[in-house]
Amino acid sequence: MERQTFSEVLQNWYHRNKRDLPWRNTKDPYKIWLSEVILQQTRVVQGLPYYLKFVEKYPAVMDLASADEKEVLRLWQGLGYYSRARNMHKTAKIITSELNGKFPETYAGLVKLKGIGPYTAAAIASFAFDEKVAVVDGNVYRVLARIFGLETDIASHEAKKIFGDLANELISDTTPGTHNQAMMEFGATYCTPASPGCMFCIFHYDCEANAKGKQAVLPVKSKKVKVKSRYFDYFVIEQSGKLMMSQRGSKDIWEGLYDFYLVESQDSLLKIEATDNDFLLDILPVSTIKNTSEIYKHILTHQNIEVRFWHIMINEGHGLQIPLDYDFYSWQEVDDLPKPILIEKYLKKHHGEFQ
Ligand code: ADE
Repeated sequence: MERQTFSEVLQNWYHRNKRDLPWRNTKDPYKIWLSEVILQQTRVVQGLPYYLKFVEKYPAVMDLASADEKEVLRLWQGLGYYSRARNMHKTAKIITSELNGKFPETYAGLVKLKGIGPYTAAAIASFAFDEKVAVVDGNVYRVLARIFGLETDIASHEAKKIFGDLANELISDTTPGTHNQAMMEFGATYCTPASPGCMFCIFHYDCEANAKGKQAVLPVKSKKVKVKSRYFDYFVIEQSGKLMMSQRGSKDIWEGLYDFYLVESQDSLLKIEATDNDFLLDILPVSTIKNTSEIYKHILTHQNIEVRFWHIMINEGHGLQIPLDYDFYSWQEVDDLPKPILIEKYLKKHHGEFQ
């Protein structure tokens, strides 16, 4: 298929089928950036409320820059990959303080910023500044692999170059931003992973995958990553109506979020009768176990976590040596803290057990 024809056919489809989304009616690089970072986490339907909340609270990059990190994480709560929110916040500060609140207007300038990778830089450069640079993400891999019958493993190193070169060859000279939006929209809503609408597809006669019945095998993606099993017992320590929590440190999931006292075990959840954890040995004799929760299975990209919560009430009149970094928080404070979504779920469900 001619390159120009490809882009025209695609953009015609887009004009007839696109969803009306708030970040498509703007050239503001801040809003485009925000929307794309959110959409890397989640689908449009789930991401939209987050986008609206963020734009309302932080209408411009300067507003995000001057926000408290805790508040940004609280607003991001539920989207996962919290380092993205933290990087976005840091980058907002840099743009505000070092670049006078102005985004770089080129791909090359954008991609240098922390947390703005090739995909996001291409999205901002093309949508906001009409630079001719193709976006390449999972949607684009799928569309190109199928239409052009590319069997390169998209998890491989070569894939970046092969798919990137092809995407940049196909992009429109005159309307690169619309071309990119069209590519993303086509991948997200039509050429979907499980049930593409091949029968009535605009590329029905050109698509290799359709001709050879290979929709289910393209794109090829090897599974390289090993999934790790982890076992978390959370001790929800209640005293005088307050809960003991601390902020998680770096180098693990949920950095910067707040959680309860955590005991992680190797091959299964904790055998409490055999524990040698000093803090537990200290507090268990002076407390009552109000409840042991059901087991939650929390699935992340590279980790399956089994989680159980112990609701522990410290008996009246007992002082307690609490571990470093922990504090007691009232329910109102707990509500305002950024927390892993799993903890939010637990607290919602078990609210009635607490004072
Ligand atoms: N997913 C991520 N970015 C998108 C966009 N701009 N349009 C549709 N789906 C998307």
